[in-house]
Amino acid sequence: MVKCVGIIGLGTVGAAVCQSLKKYSSLISRRTSLRIEIKGVCDVNKDRKKIASNLSLPFTTDPFKLINDPDIDIIVELIGGIDPAKDFIIEALNKGKNVVTANKALLAKYGDEIFSLAREKNLYVGFEASVCGAIPLIKGISEGLVACQVNKIYGILNGTTNYILYKMGKDNLDFSFVLCQAQKKGFAEVNPTLDIAGIDSVNKLCILSYLCFGIWPNLEKVYAEGISKISLLDIGYARQMNYRIKLLAIAKRERGSLDLRVHPTLVSIDHPLAEVSLAYNAVYLDTEPAGQLLFYGAGAGGEPTSSSVISDIVSIGFGAKHFMRKKESITLINIKDVTMRYYIRFMSKDNPGVLAKISKILASCNISIASVTQKERKKGKFVPIIMITHKVKEADIRRALGQIDRLSVIDSPSQIIRIEDL
Ligand code: HSE
Repeated sequence: MVKCVGIIGLGTVGAAVCQSLKKYSSLISRRTSLRIEIKGVCDVNKDRKKIASNLSLPFTTDPFKLINDPDIDIIVELIGGIDPAKDFIIEALNKGKNVVTANKALLAKYGDEIFSLAREKNLYVGFEASVCGAIPLIKGISEGLVACQVNKIYGILNGTTNYILYKMGKDNLDFSFVLCQAQKKGFAEVNPTLDIAGIDSVNKLCILSYLCFGIWPNLEKVYAEGISKISLLDIGYARQMNYRIKLLAIAKRERGSLDLRVHPTLVSIDHPLAEVSLAYNAVYLDTEPAGQLLFYGAGAGGEPTSSSVISDIVSIGFGAKHFMRKKESITLINIKDVTMRYYIRFMSKDNPGVLAKISKILASCNISIASVTQKERKKGKFVPIIMITHKVKEADIRRALGQIDRLSVIDSPSQIIRIEDL
C-alpha cells in the first residue's frame, strides 16, 4: 500500500524526517508492506529549497498546495508554534487528511479542539514526536499502559535544560556559554526562553496529563520555574549533599486533585533520573498495576525525533483511528498548598546572631529545619548558608523568605530549590 505525505516545515526535524524516510524506506516497506511517498515539502524560507533538491523532493513555499492536494493522505506539520500551524492542521483535517505533528505548544493549548475535530472527522492526529523526541512514550502510555492508572509522573522533558545543567555541573561552565552550545547542537527552541523558563516542559506535561489523567490543564495554572537562577554554587552544594539538580516536570494524582508543576528539583544521586545526562530525556511513571517504569532516550534533535514522526505515519498507514481519551474532572492544586522539603541558600553576613534572626522568622512561619551548613568563613562579609527543611508548605516558605530577604544582613534574594523524595 502507498501512503502519500506532504511535509510542512523543513527545520531540524522536518529535514531529518525527509532524510530518514528516504534512508529507511526499504526497511519500512519490508517490515510493514507500506510504501511512504513524500509527495511534496514546504517551507516559507526559500533557502530551504536546497534541502528538498538534495533529496529530489518537490518543494513549495505554499502550504496550501500540499493541504489541497487530493493525492496527499497525510499532512506532517513540523513548523512549531501556534500560528499558522493551527490553521494548517485544522484545514488539513477539514480536507479529510490525517495529520502528524510534533507541535507540543499547539497541542498543549488547543489539543482539545484539534482532537475533537479529528474525532468528528474520523481522522487521526499522530503526536508521538511532541513529547520526548525519539522515546515512544505516547504510544507507550496510550497503548502499552492502557490498563494502568498512572499516579505520578516525574519527567525530564526538555533536552536543552538537561544539557545545560549537566554541562554546568560536569565542566564547571557558565549558564550562557552552555546555552550557546545547546543552540548550536539544534536542541533548543527557536526562542530558547521556552526551554529555559520551563514552558516547553509545561507544554509537554499538559499533553501527558491528557494521556494519563484525562485533562487538558489550563496552561497558565501550571506552575513553571526555569533554570536561569541556578548557579554553579547551587550545583556544587547539591553535589556535596548527594543530589543533582534537574528540571523536573511533576504530576501527582492526589485523590480528586492533580499537583502539576515544573521547576528545578534536587533529586538524590541514587535515583535513575539523577543519571540522565546531556540532552537525554527520561520519564519515570508510578502506576498501578504495572508499578514503576522508566522511559529514557533522546528527547531532542532532528534524527531521533524523525523516528517518532515516521512511526505515526506508519500507524496511519495501518489504519489507526482517532485518539480520544475520555475527559475527567480533576482540579489543579495550587503550588502554594503543596508540602515538600526545600534547599534554601541565604547569602548572609558572617556576624554573630544572624542565624538566630533567620531561625526566628522560619520558626514563626512553621518551618522546621533539618540541617544547616555555613559554607565559608569571612567575618563581616556575605557568605552562603545552606539549609534543608523538613516537609513544609510552599506558602510558608514564601512568607518566610519575604521577611528574611528584607533583613539588612541578607545580601541577594535567597535561593530555594524544591526537593523530591522519589
Ligand atoms: N527544545 C526541546 C528540548 C526540543 O530541548 O527538549 C524537543 O522538544
